[in-house]
Amino acid sequence: MKITLSIIKADIGGYVGHSSTHPEVVAKVTEVAQAAKGDLLIDVSVLTCGDDIALVMTHQQGVDNEKIHKLAWDAFVAGTQVARDLKLYGAGQDLLSDAFSGNVRGLGPGIAEMEFEERKSEPVIVFFADKTAPSAWNLPLYEMFADPMNTAGLVIDPSMHGGFTFEIMDVYTGKVVKLKTPAELYDLLALIGSVSKYVVRAVYRNSDGEIAAAASTQRLSLMAGQYVGKDDPVLAVRSQSGFPAIGEILEPFGRPWLVEGWMRGSHTGPLMPVSFKQAKPTRFDGPPRVIAAGYQICNGRLVGPVDLFDDPAFDMARHECSYMANRLRRQGIFEPHRLPPEEMEYTTLPKVMERLKDRFMDSGEKMAKDAKILEKEDMD
Ligand code: F6R
Ligand code: MG
Ligand code: MG
Repeated sequence: MKITLSIIKADIGGYVGHSSTHPEVVAKVTEVAQAAKGDLLIDVSVLTCGDDIALVMTHQQGVDNEKIHKLAWDAFVAGTQVARDLKLYGAGQDLLSDAFSGNVRGLGPGIAEMEFEERKSEPVIVFFADKTAPSAWNLPLYEMFADPMNTAGLVIDPSMHGGFTFEIMDVYTGKVVKLKTPAELYDLLALIGSVSKYVVRAVYRNSDGEIAAAASTQRLSLMAGQYVGKDDPVLAVRSQSGFPAIGEILEPFGRPWLVEGWMRGSHTGPLMPVSFKQAKPTRFDGPPRVIAAGYQICNGRLVGPVDLFDDPAFDMARHECSYMANRLRRQGIFEPHRLPPEEMEYTTLPKVMERLKDRFMDSGEKMAKDAKILEKEDMD
């Protein structure tokens, strides 16, 4: 049976501030989406991470389907009304347009979709992160699908031994390139190491072209032309039997690294793998969080989710993240904790800079001016 897995997410209001979601908003979004079950949708599961809500949907309409996108849009619009009634913070912030125009791509909600023939058993992990950007998946996707030091199956399992192809998008131009690993591994790393420019959009298995992973690649900042919140991303990864094992997919998160997007979308911070319950970032509005929801898909039905980071084996990673967070906070507003100027371009900082613009003068000019003042003082 061919099914489509569509994950569409949005921040439609925070509780309190940008830290979490309100249960009444989540209930409304769920109610609207659930009403389409048995009709447009086979199944739907609702996840939250920080101030974001994700609809994990299965159906048979294919990717980029107008009806599915409209359903998600309507659910978020209904949730926004509840958020407005409660005067929640930033109500409707990711719904960048007043009217739905056929496809949520480019409108604000983040979207990751893939269509595949459901296997005899279909384990899938949906990752969902807050206070970061789609490029947060670059490093873990490389490790899951191209690093044999992380994924033993690349060496041991003949069905994975042929490697995987990465589809990478330049977020500034929207152009994509496909690179095949292991042959083009160094080219891949040359691109995806530049996390502010390149993001992994999808991964395919070389042996048969099967889709293995799909990520959301929106950058709200670039779409809106100004900072309107962050593009907190989702990622779906298929697992087992020719794809990395659940443990190989989760393993990169056991060794925390730094991502963009903490406080005001302007800081670097460690991506902390947390249980659903702990996905409420508060310290300096963070540090960035990620949850992992495991599902077995059964004739399109989403059996789950299982809270995969709710495991003491990830306690050390959480601890390490707190330690890394402390070290970075010592830098305060200074780089590299704060992002470099190119990355600050889409935040509110340019407005501050604008006010200082006219006060800059050529340093030579200033020296001459100082000399004149001194000369005048001498004459007086
Ligand atoms: C939002 C975020 C927060 C906000 C910060 C300031 O996802 O990351 O850190 O940027 O709380 O929010 P405003 O400007 O809305 O007061
Ligand atoms: Mg928010
Ligand atoms: Mg968020």
